[in-house]
Amino acid sequence: MTAFDLTGHVALVTGGNGGIGLGMAKGMADAGASIAIAARNMEKSESAAETLRKSGAEVITLAVDVASEQSVKDMVSATLDKFGRVDSLIANAGVNDRKPPQDYTAETWNWIIETNLSGPFYCAQSVYPAMKAQGGGKIITIGSMASIFGLPFAAPYAATKGGVVQLSRVLATAWAADNIQVNAILPGWIDTELTRNARGQVEGLHDRVEVRTPAARWGNPQDFEGIAVFLASSASNFVTGTAIPVDGGYSIMGG
Ligand SMILES: NC(=O)c1ccc[n+]([C@@H]2O[C@H](COP(=O)([O-])OP(=O)(O)OC[C@H]3O[C@@H](n4cnc5c(N)ncnc54)[C@H](OP(=O)(O)O)[C@@H]3O)[C@@H](O)[C@H]2O)c1
Repeated sequence: MTAFDLTGHVALVTGGNGGIGLGMAKGMADAGASIAIAARNMEKSESAAETLRKSGAEVITLAVDVASEQSVKDMVSATLDKFGRVDSLIANAGVNDRKPPQDYTAETWNWIIETNLSGPFYCAQSVYPAMKAQGGGKIITIGSMASIFGLPFAAPYAATKGGVVQLSRVLATAWAADNIQVNAILPGWIDTELTRNARGQVEGLHDRVEVRTPAARWGNPQDFEGIAVFLASSASNFVTGTAIPVDGGYSIMGG
C-alpha cells in the first residue's frame, strides 16, 4: 500500500457530476476509492457515474441541493447507509453570476452565498459526527483566485470564496484533535461550464487568462485528479488549514 492508495476509502463529492468535481472524483476512483456523487441534476450524475464505473469504482448518485441544510443531512445519511463511512468530503458545488456589484438583487446574492458558503458549512457539519466516530477524515473545499484577488464582476462569488478559505482554517483548527484535516484548493481559470458562461459574460477574458498564466493555458478538470488524491489520502496527514492554488502559476505572476 502506498501513501496515495485510496482502496476502501469513501469519498462524497458535491457537484461531482461535471467539471472540476468530476475531475477530482475520477482521480480518487482511479486510486481505489468508492464515490458518492451528489448534485441536483440526476441525469448528469448518472452519466458521470457511468464514466467512473469504467475505472472499476463503486459509485452511487445522490440528489442534493447544498443550499438546503435538510437536503445535505439526507445526502450524508444516504452515503452512510450505503457505505457505512465517509472518509473524505469534497465540498465542491458552486455557482456564479457575473455583473457589477450595484446590479445584484438580494435574491441572486443570497443564492450564491447559500450555495457556495453555507453549502460547504452544512456539508462539513453533517459529516463531522461520522468522521469523528471513525477516527478521522478529510475535508476539501474549493476556493478560487477570487479568494485572493478582487474581481469587479464577482462580488458575492468572491465573498464566498474568501469565506470558504477562512471557514476551512477554522474547521482545521477546531477538528485537528479529531484527526480531521481540512484544506482548500484554489483553482485558477479552468475550462468548465462555469467559465464557459464567464467567457460569454466578460469580454476578453479568454485571452487575458492565457496571457497572464505562466503555463500559458486554461486548466482542465484532469488537472485536479492529483491534488484530490493527495488531500484525500494519508499522504497529506500532516497538511491542514492550507489553501493550495492549482492555477498554472496565475497567482504568483508578477508584472
Ligand atoms: N472553473 C473555474 O475556473 C473555477 C475556478 C475557481 C473555482 N471554481 C470552483 O470549482 C467548483 C466547481 O466548479 P466548475 O468550474 O467545475 O463548474 P461546473 O461545471 O458548473 O460545476 C458546478 C457543480 O456544482 C453543482 N451544483 C451547483 N449548484 C448546486 C447546488 N445548489 N446543490 C448541489 N450541487 C450544485 C452542479 O451540478 P448540478 O447543476 O447538477 O447541481 C455542478 O456539478 C465551484 O465551487 C467553483 O466555484 C471553478
